Amino acid sequence: MKLSLKNQWVLITGASSGFGAAAARAFGAAGAKLLLGARRVDRLKNVAAEAKISGAAEAHFHELDVADTASVEEFVAWAKKKIADRKSQIKNLHVLINNAGGAHGLDTIADGKDADWEAMIQSNVLGVLRVTRAALPLLARDAGASIINLGSVAGRAVYEGGAVYCAAKAAELQITRALRLELLGTGIRVGTLDPGLAETEFSLVRFKGDAAKAKKIYEGTNPLTAEDIAETLVWMTSRPAHVNIDELIIKPVDQAAIGKVYRRMKKEK
Ligand SMILES: NC(=O)c1ccc[n+]([C@@H]2O[C@H](COP(=O)([O-])OP(=O)(O)OC[C@H]3O[C@@H](n4cnc5c(N)ncnc54)[C@H](OP(=O)(O)O)[C@@H]3O)[C@@H](O)[C@H]2O)c1
Repeated sequence: MKLSLKNQWVLITGASSGFGAAAARAFGAAGAKLLLGARRVDRLKNVAAEAKISGAAEAHFHELDVADTASVEEFVAWAKKKIADRKSQIKNLHVLINNAGGAHGLDTIADGKDADWEAMIQSNVLGVLRVTRAALPLLARDAGASIINLGSVAGRAVYEGGAVYCAAKAAELQITRALRLELLGTGIRVGTLDPGLAETEFSLVRFKGDAAKAKKIYEGTNPLTAEDIAETLVWMTSRPAHVNIDELIIKPVDQAAIGKVYRRMKKEK
């Protein structure tokens, strides 16, 4: 039977934009209680308000930098308090979405910058590890709880200038696979959702705020939207409790492979 997410606690990292913000609205529409984290708290406040309008039973937010162990621990302690609140009937976390991450720069290894490499490994790899380690004790055993990590097609294929981002997402894939083995017998579901080209703030961050450069990535093609990913996250976590979606790759029809994107000429649009 499909699992209901109504009144279930859902923790989403990187909820201030893109997939995470759309996931907050989508889990909200399913009646969940939300615990939202990211560095931009002003953005989180708006997302929480939108999620409430969508139908969230509750929507709370707190600053979170997944690149910093102390920040992760403080965030999870805050989440634990919210879940343990006297008013709350359900005393466990039901869904953890490890979504915070992204790409920084598109330099070849020869021209790579330490700060970009470090930011990518910190958020996409160490961030997933830190948040998972801290939140694991909050997850319900044998009740259809889920941990879903946001991977990427970049974790399964490489492109020039993508060495470190691809390596980081390949690490996320292997971390997900190891966690799946480690949690066998707990009833906690573990999976990775690996999207292809999706239009969010991803390219704006990669190109350090250069909007024209970011826009070009999606020119003439129909990318995925943040809502496509959010809908898939809700689907993955609402399967019957005995069903584990281990690895799911989702791409736009216009993207056959990581560097093979169909672009319409202007008159074709
Ligand atoms: N868009 C794509 O084409 C695509 C494809 C495959 C996979 N992905 C992955 O999907 C995830 C979401 O990306 P998106 O496309 O939604 O991009 P986005 O719009 O740029 O969102 C990224 C989110 O991650 C958060 N974040 C980044 N570093 C963080 C940190 N150190 N601590 C806490 N939060 C942090 C950002 O929040 P703050 O800046 O406010 O902290 C933001 O909320 C990422 O893991 C990305 O790698 C994206």
